[in-house]
Amino acid sequence: MQQESIQSKNENLFVGIDLGTSCSAIVASNGTKNWIESYVGWPKDFIAVKVVKKPVLFGMEAIKNRLSLDIRKPLEGGVVKEGTEKEAESVRELIRHLIEMVKPNKEQKVLAIVGVPAESFKVNRIAIRKAVSDFVHSIIVVSEPFAVAYGMNLLNNAMIIDIGAGTVDFCIMHGTIPSEDDQRTILTAGDYIDRQLYNLLSEKFPESTFNENMVRQFKENNSFVGNSQNMVKVKIPVEGKPMVHNITEEIKKSCESIFPPIIETLSEMIASFDPEYQNKIRNNIVIAGCGSQISGIVEYLEDAMKEYGTCQVKTVVDPLFAGANGALTMAQEMPKEYWEKLSKI
Ligand SMILES: Nc1ncnc2c1ncn2[C@@H]1O[C@H](COP(=O)(O)OP(=O)(O)OP(=O)(O)O)[C@@H](O)[C@H]1O
Ligand SMILES: [Mg+2]
Repeated sequence: MQQESIQSKNENLFVGIDLGTSCSAIVASNGTKNWIESYVGWPKDFIAVKVVKKPVLFGMEAIKNRLSLDIRKPLEGGVVKEGTEKEAESVRELIRHLIEMVKPNKEQKVLAIVGVPAESFKVNRIAIRKAVSDFVHSIIVVSEPFAVAYGMNLLNNAMIIDIGAGTVDFCIMHGTIPSEDDQRTILTAGDYIDRQLYNLLSEKFPESTFNENMVRQFKENNSFVGNSQNMVKVKIPVEGKPMVHNITEEIKKSCESIFPPIIETLSEMIASFDPEYQNKIRNNIVIAGCGSQISGIVEYLEDAMKEYGTCQVKTVVDPLFAGANGALTMAQEMPKEYWEKLSKI
């Protein structure tokens, strides 16, 4: 196959995008990169327009002004909601905003690869392509774990597990573009941990007042699985006064709650793969997504998989940008004919 790539000439801006449930990231061939929380909001009425002074807001700015906004999360449970025009528009606006953040020149053609949760790849890729076709020259939608694998050059005998907010996505790489059979999605991910932790804390400290946002912060600052020497103490108000609470057991229990389904899916996928390669895949497992930052995750998974044979796990270096980086590398290496063919679709 001819491997001529479109070079990063100034006439083309290549971008890699990771469209996620909780946050989305972009990396571009002009050296810029950025990320935002995946929220889009439109002012509810003319008072709101006066307050927020913008036709549409994104990310943290949208979250902060949520009372004035009709606020949307384009992805939920790993898929783009496609019910209404507003929902389609929220994906379009989010991708448009991400591209604006990397500042293409007016004359530049934008050639984008967008990584989406594996489930969304199955059901939404045409809708996503349509939504953004007005402002990109060409777009390819891929599953996010595939983008991560590409960026790390893990194209053969590897398993990627992407632990996000809404979903955990699994993808086996075996030397070709992964098919639907090579990918699985489960819903016990970061948001699930938050719900477990919220319930455990409500049960143990009925007098204390906290909200979902605080609980997620407790998790992100202290997450761990397995045996940790450190006690986790946080301040939570009781009758208005901040009091120190020991939440070590609750953090451990809630973080560990996502692992039985992860281990079950992982072992099922490996067991259904060609027996000659099972050992190689088990020894080449990479965890991506921001959930990969749970302390002790590597040892915990290796230990749990021991009964199936030796197992080696590692985590990506930059979980926030690993998907977008991989998508950009893929965009830059994509043979020219692919882009040309796509731009005519
Ligand atoms: N240090 C941490 N420890 C544990 N979890 C964390 C940590 N930092 C972030 N998270 C969690 O990771 C999740 C977000 O991960 P990520 O940004 O990869 O998801 P996403 O791509 O937006 O979601 P999805 O892949 O489901 O669409 C959230 O649940 C967040 O609370
Ligand atoms: Mg993700």
